Amino acid sequence: MRVTAVLLAAGQGTRMKSGLPKVLHAIAGKPMIWHALQAISQSTTEKPVVVVGHGADEVTKYLGDSAQTVLQEPQLGTGHAVMQAESLLKGKTDLVVVCYSDMPLLRGETLQKLVETQKNNKGPISMLTVTADDPHGFGRIIRKPDGTVEAIVEEYVATPEQLQIKELNVGGYCFDADWLWDALHRIPKNPKKGEYYLTDTVELATKDGLPVQATLMDDVEETIGINNRVHLAEVEAAMRRRINEDHMLNGVTMIDPASAYIEASVKIGRDTVIMPNTYLHGKTEIGESNVIGPNSIIRDTKIGNFCKVLASVTEGAVLEDHVDMGPFARLRKGAHLGNHVHMGNFGEVKDSYLFEGVKMGHFSYIGNAQIGANTNIGAGTITCNYDGEKKHPTEIGEDVFIGSDTMLVAPVKLGAGARTGAGAVVTKNVPEDTLVVGVPARAIRKLERKAKK
Ligand code: UD1
Ligand code: MG
Repeated sequence: MRVTAVLLAAGQGTRMKSGLPKVLHAIAGKPMIWHALQAISQSTTEKPVVVVGHGADEVTKYLGDSAQTVLQEPQLGTGHAVMQAESLLKGKTDLVVVCYSDMPLLRGETLQKLVETQKNNKGPISMLTVTADDPHGFGRIIRKPDGTVEAIVEEYVATPEQLQIKELNVGGYCFDADWLWDALHRIPKNPKKGEYYLTDTVELATKDGLPVQATLMDDVEETIGINNRVHLAEVEAAMRRRINEDHMLNGVTMIDPASAYIEASVKIGRDTVIMPNTYLHGKTEIGESNVIGPNSIIRDTKIGNFCKVLASVTEGAVLEDHVDMGPFARLRKGAHLGNHVHMGNFGEVKDSYLFEGVKMGHFSYIGNAQIGANTNIGAGTITCNYDGEKKHPTEIGEDVFIGSDTMLVAPVKLGAGARTGAGAVVTKNVPEDTLVVGVPARAIRKLERKAKK
């Protein structure tokens, strides 16, 4: 059976008071609409259709290939919005799932239940409902004695008795497609607002003598819609709790989940410990048995197993296994730390590969460089990689010992086993096993390398 989702995203979102379309505001690092698309992907078989209006260009650009879009212009209500998808979908789907793109906590499983309900429904509509103590702003559900739904009454037209009803319209529906395309044209124009309400299809079904089923949800939190930035923060907190709980249930330890800020896209392996005040962003992938934090910000970084990252900042970097980093270390784009690399305080690495066992304990900048295995970078070492116009490479071999405060003026190469004296300014390539000292550094003698342990 073909099931297609129509996601409504044309509304203005006036109360966000923002230059950004509402559905592009981020929750856990991803636009609201991303979360809605994730949820619907579990219960649909076809590419979703997103109805865009306000901010259409930006929303369409963000969606790219992930959805088809149709423009609703002007915006004449939720029924009118769904009608815009008719020409794309008529004859191409059996069921239509309609939901709003500003409810990012709605779970895929909930929509799956909704679709299942409709598959077993002889009538044309199934809808999500919830009971809540604070029904403010929601349409109220009127049930028939047999339990099917008779109508949805919007708050502003409800009688005082109807306002007492605690069962509410969540804003998630599954329709029989053929019936829907016809019914949309029968929705009466709302006399007060001049709009066409999708919720009026329920009364049309009742008039047709066809049953409308409701799936009553048990988790009210899922139904929180975002209209302003107070809601945005509420949903962010709820989503964060949900993400953290998923990680914990998968074997990740969190010392204080309330202070772990983990975006939806991040992966973490078991037995890794996330310490407080840690931010994990973007395409970050963390393996097993690591200790991350406290006080760390990790973005788009791949971390292997058994690493320690203490009070550090990384972006676009790779750490292999058993890397020990921080406190106060910084990795920038293209930094790659091999197995057993030790990087201590106040170091910065950018576009550089540090091979296995490299140690840089204190106050160093390594940019556009390759550092061979087991080389020691002394305190205060700097790769002078930029001449004011261009970046230049530094290549350092294995088992090199760079003395404290060495300036490596790139482009420059140091052969395996070389050594620089403290304060050396290296402007020329240094051959293997050679000691250089001074400003500019010059060779003073040939060295004998210690045998490897
Ligand atoms: C709607 C329901 C109400 C339900 C509530 C749950 C209707 C008539 N009422 O009311 O029963 O309890 O949601 O939150 O449907 N949109 C468009 N084009 C339009 C109008 C709206 O795309 O012309 C989109 C909006 O961007 C939004 C969604 O549809 O994502 C819902 O619209 P909104 O105006 O928020 O409806 P509510 O008044 O909240
Ligand atoms: Mg709303």
